[in-house]
Amino acid sequence: MQNLIYLEEVDSTNNYVKARCGELADGVAVTARIQTAGRGRRGHEWADDEGMLPLSVLLKNPLDCDTLTARVGLAVCDAIGKTLENPPQVCLKWANDVIVANHKVCGILCESVFFGDCRNVICGIGINISQSEDFFRERNLPHAGSLWSLTGQAPDREELLKSVVEAVKLRAAMPFADCYNEYKKRLVNLGLSVRIISPSGERIATAVDVAPNGFLICRDEDGEFAVSSGEVSVRGLDGYV
Ligand code: BTN
Repeated sequence: MQNLIYLEEVDSTNNYVKARCGELADGVAVTARIQTAGRGRRGHEWADDEGMLPLSVLLKNPLDCDTLTARVGLAVCDAIGKTLENPPQVCLKWANDVIVANHKVCGILCESVFFGDCRNVICGIGINISQSEDFFRERNLPHAGSLWSLTGQAPDREELLKSVVEAVKLRAAMPFADCYNEYKKRLVNLGLSVRIISPSGERIATAVDVAPNGFLICRDEDGEFAVSSGEVSVRGLDGYV
């Protein structure tokens, strides 16, 4: 049985869970019809619309937090593949953006709150289900799209929601080693040039592999180095991927 909380309106489902993680049980998921102040990675805003499904799943002391966001990304791929009649190719852009037809259809923001010995991880997921192309154009988001705008198909919101929650719990219980080959298969970056954007500046390299701990292995003229997802964003040189 899934423990799901439905809200009519909330600032951010992640904020809602964060403020209550002492009292909410492990595995509780929270969604809302309207999210007014969704947050993205690195302090960005996350554009709201009723065509976007916001969701936060609370996990208490989950396995291997360093690779959790990557596994949550895989869970979203699993769920989209299950709920669309003619599933498109669903890929991941390191570390965890979900990509369809070279556009971002889902973002993931995992945040941790400690209570004594307990690490509460809030897995925030925003899936663009049914916004129009105009929605993204008007907000100057050329690299984003919805399942509907990119494939002409939109899954049933409720079915997708339940499927994502189930898949997140399954993937959260799996060691990254068991997801590793699938993760690499879904990754769009390998073999491509990437711009690694961090607070200390930018570095251009080629993405060559993923380490067993989820780090992206890159190579430039100085040799190989590993990039951790933390505060870093990876972009293609000519576009998003
Ligand atoms: C990203 O920058 O790619 C991450 C976006 C995460 C958005 C989701 S929507 C549900 C949850 N609540 C938030 O405020 N953010 C996440």
